[in-house]
Amino acid sequence: MVKSTGYKIVKTAVFISGTGSNLKSLIKFSKTNLSPISIDLIVSNNPKAKGLKYGKIFKIRKKIFNFEKKNQSESKILATFKRYDIKMVLLAGFMKILSKKFITKFNGKILNIHPSLLPKYKGLNTHQRVLDNKEKYSGCTVHFVNSKLDSGKIILQKKIKISKTETKNSLAKKILVQEHKLYPKAILKVFNL
Ligand code: GRF
Repeated sequence: MVKSTGYKIVKTAVFISGTGSNLKSLIKFSKTNLSPISIDLIVSNNPKAKGLKYGKIFKIRKKIFNFEKKNQSESKILATFKRYDIKMVLLAGFMKILSKKFITKFNGKILNIHPSLLPKYKGLNTHQRVLDNKEKYSGCTVHFVNSKLDSGKIILQKKIKISKTETKNSLAKKILVQEHKLYPKAILKVFNL
């Protein structure tokens, strides 16, 4: 399928483990004329992930892989990608770590969003650690995925100010709003659009 931009649309899978608000915003973006990608597959390790509902709402194929045996799950994922011609992966709140082998196969085509100003605050429990350290700013980062956690090349970041009354939850909410804008922008940047 070619949209009015004249680019070949890149078939993409979004990986989630939870609420899927980034997934929703990515689906909406993918339906605009600006988008170089279409979202053709939703992958989750968690059959109870709330975000899976967007598969039904937007009629996108969903696949669950339990990741108990990572190698096995990843082989199945790669077979699924082949079947549906998936050429790009967007991690959006996906709580499993992909193997080096998998990442190498998709080198440069896996993106992730992280709710901090990387390289600061990699890993989990980001917002609490930011508040504990009395940071004045936090934000979110979209980066390429490499074999080290939250360490691949940064594509785009958005910085926000932390208020005096900020809590872990208010910070998470505030940053999530920015994440929804940043991820599509980062995709456009990756495609030089
Ligand atoms: C986001 O804050 C994302 O940066 C982090 O997990 C959260 C996922 O939120 N990795 P959602 O599932 O997209 O709503």
